[in-house]
Amino acid sequence: MFFPQFRARRIRGKEVFRNMVRETSLSTNDLIYPMFSAFGQGIRKEVSSMPGIYQQSIEYIVEEAQEAHELGIPAVLLFGIPETKDAVGSDAYSDTGIIQETIRELKKKVPGLAVITDVCMCEYTDHGHCGIIKNGDVDNDATLELLAKEALSHARAGADMVAPSDMMDGRIAAIRNILDESGYTHIPVMSYAVKYASGYYGPFREAAESTPQFGDRRSYQMDPANRLEALREAQMDVEEGADIIMVKPGLPYLDIVREMRNEFNLPVAVYNVSGEYSMIKAAGKMGWIDEDRVIMETMISFKRAGADLILTYHAKEAAKLLHKGYEAARATRCGCP
Ligand code: PBG
Ligand code: ZN
Repeated sequence: MFFPQFRARRIRGKEVFRNMVRETSLSTNDLIYPMFSAFGQGIRKEVSSMPGIYQQSIEYIVEEAQEAHELGIPAVLLFGIPETKDAVGSDAYSDTGIIQETIRELKKKVPGLAVITDVCMCEYTDHGHCGIIKNGDVDNDATLELLAKEALSHARAGADMVAPSDMMDGRIAAIRNILDESGYTHIPVMSYAVKYASGYYGPFREAAESTPQFGDRRSYQMDPANRLEALREAQMDVEEGADIIMVKPGLPYLDIVREMRNEFNLPVAVYNVSGEYSMIKAAGKMGWIDEDRVIMETMISFKRAGADLILTYHAKEAAKLLHKGYEAARATRCGCP
């Protein structure tokens, strides 16, 4: 009878061995929690397609941000739902805009928490596109000026980091330049470097009320079929001074996360987007999957693919599971007694 020299099961046989040879781990330090700040007072409205995620006014944002901070989550990512929208997204770069007010309040009330802001126009334009429209399409260079103004206004309000998600060419340089000229050389830019035109953003557009009113985002976001283009996009952002490069969405693009890790020496972030969250929530609600286990398996897949940071609506849930001693890798153990 043939016995192989190597038996993979030997080192898996005891929990203590599995703990010793585990290759990747998840920490609360890896997590960034996205939040939706809505204009007004006393607002706390659950997003119907994202159970557990709310559009909320500043006082509730502060409350939940405090909770995230106490769970050991180092940073939140802010999206704004302004009082009014217009063709040029004025609220985005107004010093009294929804995000600017939210940043000031958060830095006052939860100073230990890092505030990262999403820099884009789509939450603030009445047409829902990520820039200003000329001749039926988003005009790249005209949009750059507004994005730069927006990023500067966030920095002035006290943002710790800015994260442009618009996918205009040259935006990292435009933002870096204006920040540097204005005395914000120390504010890092986390670039949504590789952002695909994805159906997985569906629930977010309900949350941020940012569905394009005509057409789609394919003239500025990437084609899901492309890998080499991701390398070009990231390279451009690195050359322009990005401090962190992000891949978005997450699960359908783990191969791209790995490419980024292998190709560049900057921290890599991955955005586990709204549709990925909603799928797990829906299947969990139906009782079709063990939700906690699938959440942790998903988180560890990002780490294994090479991500350093995970932007995720599961951040609070994952942090709670970590604190309960639910080791990330246990999620990959079979449920046998
Ligand atoms: C805005 C933006 C989007 C997301 C983050 N920033 C949506 C989009 O491009 O339509 C998606 C996040 C998510 O789905 O969770 N540019
Ligand atoms: Zn946008």
